Amino acid sequence: MPNFKNITFEINENIATVIINRPDKLNALNFLTLEELETAIDLIENDKEVRGVIITGSGKKAFVAGADINEFTSINNARDVAENGQRIFAKIENLNKPVIAAINGYALGGGCELALACHIRVAAENAVFAQPEVNLGLIPGYGGTQRLTHLVGKGKAIELITTADMVDANEARKIGLVNHVVSSDKLIEKALEILNKIKQKPAVSIDLSIQAINASVKNPETGYQVEAECFSKSTKTTDFKEGTSAFLEKRKPNFKGE
Ligand code: COA
Repeated sequence: MPNFKNITFEINENIATVIINRPDKLNALNFLTLEELETAIDLIENDKEVRGVIITGSGKKAFVAGADINEFTSINNARDVAENGQRIFAKIENLNKPVIAAINGYALGGGCELALACHIRVAAENAVFAQPEVNLGLIPGYGGTQRLTHLVGKGKAIELITTADMVDANEARKIGLVNHVVSSDKLIEKALEILNKIKQKPAVSIDLSIQAINASVKNPETGYQVEAECFSKSTKTTDFKEGTSAFLEKRKPNFKGE
């Protein structure tokens, strides 16, 4: 296991938990934190034992309060910075197992974009969302203009990004920005409940479902083709034989993840 400085990473009962761990800076994503996050995601991708991921923030106040503004004042390769963040968040979005953002406070700027890159968002009642980049003379650069638009629709995304308005957890649920809102002490429990349900399902079907759903956003014209390809791949798995046999034999399936 690498020696991480700004994140903690652990695996328990097939679920990996990544905690962004700079609470004194409200878990702001500096470049090292992003690099460590990418390393953790790479490890998770290649670990067949891991069946789901929770990403959350350290402390009670923030999930992630944005990209590190201190570092942003001295960048001279802004396009590379955006493309690097986009690349890492795309790895999360395209991961072969489900990723849940457990949002325990401020999810601002890059923090909101990190949550958007996750597959499912569960928010604590004290969560606050915003894309406040225009307040700094910037725009979102880690995928926010794209993923927020896909998730809440163009009109709401334009309003949120151009006003920089903060949205509380209940409003976020109303507009489709988060899946569930729970009390702070139930946040990880809720994320685990969802992942423990998914981990009973065949791993290949989960991976292929994620790929096919992501295809709908990447290129709607080819989304149906990707779905058909993924459907076809799913029928070639051992778990397909097991799932259908178990149904017909009226017994519980014993999936192997193959
Ligand atoms: N980058 C770097 N440092 C950040 C940060 C960020 N995005 N967000 C918070 N911090 C730091 C603060 O500078 C402060 O550090 P300090 O104690 O060394 O001065 C520490 O985290 C605590 O934040 P503070 O502002 O004192 O807390 P608060 O409760 O008064 O306010 C926020 C909380 C989230 C409203 C405020 O920190 C904020 O607006 N942060 C920036 C949000 C933002 O614009 N994000 C998008 C960046 S692209």
